[in-house]
Amino acid sequence: MKIIRAKDYADMSRKAANIIAAQIILKPDSVLGLATGSSPVGTYKQLIDWYNKGDIDFSQITSVNLDEYVGLSGDHEQSYRYFMNDNLFNHVNIDKARTHVPNGKAEDMDAECQRYEELIRSLGGVDLQLLGIGHDGHIGFNEPAPDFPTITHCVELNEMTIKANARFFGSESEVPTHAVTMGIQTIMRARKVLLIANGADKKEIMEKAFFGPVTPAVPASILQMHPDLTIVTADTI
Ligand code: F6R
Repeated sequence: MKIIRAKDYADMSRKAANIIAAQIILKPDSVLGLATGSSPVGTYKQLIDWYNKGDIDFSQITSVNLDEYVGLSGDHEQSYRYFMNDNLFNHVNIDKARTHVPNGKAEDMDAECQRYEELIRSLGGVDLQLLGIGHDGHIGFNEPAPDFPTITHCVELNEMTIKANARFFGSESEVPTHAVTMGIQTIMRARKVLLIANGADKKEIMEKAFFGPVTPAVPASILQMHPDLTIVTADTI
């Protein structure tokens, strides 16, 4: 586990973008695992900036996102598909047909989870997985549980996550109650993992996750076992 301490959010974003840019330069046809939320917004902005300057080329990149709300279509402003288009895909030369986000509107969610898991396998797995961390230690939407959930599955969101995500919706009652997410095993199979976290409010969970015991009560703690984990963080540890 490598920990890179950044000065602030902007510095964290630049450092994380540097790692992703290096991945793209070293392997132009990489499969990137991507995340939504407030943590990666600055990272995506920096990547767009370098793309505009001609430094990186997304034309051969494939992406798979971690998760999606159940019940939201890709054109809903709070869907993760919309977020990705808006914050990254619309601004770089990635082939949209090669950008994958679980389908939150699938009629059969179990079949959708299986399709998504198989898709990731058929792509040869994820080269670099970008992650944020929730206040309860969730990664993707893998919430604290008695066991580590394994592959892509459907989850009921807990109160803390619904509250945290209400800031993006009109009110708490508008936040979807379920989501589909890559599982812990799906995430752990990524060849490299890059976790970004910033802000004093994440300090406690970062300490638990990376300096405490590995436990499904803190899902991110499993990353301590990942052979190639880089954490880029500001104001947490
Ligand atoms: C997003 C995701 C979530 C977030 C986490 C942190 O795709 O999977 O696990 O990374 O909720 O969110 P922020 O960055 O908004 O604090």
